[in-house]
Amino acid sequence: MKKYLVTGCAGFIGSTLTDKLLNEGASVTGIDIFRDYYDVSIKRRNIASALVNPSFTLLEKDLSTGLDFLSSFIDSSDELVIYHLAAQAGVRKSWGTDFRIYTRDNIDATQNLLEWAHFRGGIKNFVYASSSSIYGVPAILPMTEDKTVPIPHSPYGVTKLAAENLVRLYTANMGLPSASLRFFTVYGPRQRPDMAFNRFIRAALDGKAIGVFGNGRQTRDFTYIDDIVHGLRLAEDSTKGLSMNLGGGNRVTLLHSIETLAKVMGREIGIEFSESKLGDVPDTWASAELAMIEMGWKPSVSLEEGLSQEVNWLLSSS
Ligand SMILES: NC(=O)c1ccc[n+]([C@@H]2O[C@H](COP(=O)([O-])OP(=O)(O)OC[C@H]3O[C@@H](n4cnc5c(N)ncnc54)[C@H](O)[C@@H]3O)[C@@H](O)[C@H]2O)c1
Repeated sequence: MKKYLVTGCAGFIGSTLTDKLLNEGASVTGIDIFRDYYDVSIKRRNIASALVNPSFTLLEKDLSTGLDFLSSFIDSSDELVIYHLAAQAGVRKSWGTDFRIYTRDNIDATQNLLEWAHFRGGIKNFVYASSSSIYGVPAILPMTEDKTVPIPHSPYGVTKLAAENLVRLYTANMGLPSASLRFFTVYGPRQRPDMAFNRFIRAALDGKAIGVFGNGRQTRDFTYIDDIVHGLRLAEDSTKGLSMNLGGGNRVTLLHSIETLAKVMGREIGIEFSESKLGDVPDTWASAELAMIEMGWKPSVSLEEGLSQEVNWLLSSS
């Protein structure tokens, strides 16, 4: 029987993927240790509907301390698709002593899971959630998998690239089927509260000015959550060990995105500018050609449509 393992299943992207798989009728085991990087009650809400589904099992376990517990929950004869989304996210906090958290949850945890997957066998695919942060500040845009040399600009990006390289070498050395998907600024319902649109919308709903780091002319290739989840599902069958960008279609300046948000919310939005933060990059721009060629993936949700979904979600959850 085919089974799915989703790590980081209570997070923004992991919980949305878990719900999608359960809606498809799949059997899913989720792992999440409910780190308190942001309010844990948000994660409990994210996973609430999955928890009442008999096809879902939640394991509140820490991937960074080993996976001995896992084999007793997954039948050895099952074919397994692993979606590895657990990580310590966020660029800005990855400096200083907090870097240890990033190496633990992004590198050690990934290596533990790869070892487990290799020794277990029977893996249909190991799909890793990588990031546009691995690219840093390239001289030429768009960021293209076979042309842009990945030189991260933040400690977070370094750990995401290290884990992506680990995935690649388990494929090259041990033949583990895999795909790494480089997500570009994901937004929509359940977006993490530390991310820009979530902060902007909550401030605007409270009638407050929104805080922008830098001059607002930085560009981001915003990607709607359903497009990301669609890419994750397509990646189940992409087993060659490729790294592919999942982004594109909504590359705008931050100022433009705020104008779009003001239009969607039907209100004026004030802005308070402050200095950009260490590790922030001026631009992200994905070439999505490889994901199109390999998996037939194409983003389909416009910024206006996606933002209105996120506004509605925050309105209904406040
Ligand atoms: N959100 C984005 O825009 C974005 C962009 C690029 C890449 N990514 C990647 O996508 C993945 C999901 O991101 P997200 O925004 O949903 O983050 P999130 O913080 O909402 O979810 C990550 C989850 O992983 C869990 N976790 C962390 N360390 C763990 C460990 N050692 N053991 C078990 N669980 C652990 C956390 O408790 C959390 O619930 C991450 O790998 C992130 O690096 C996200």
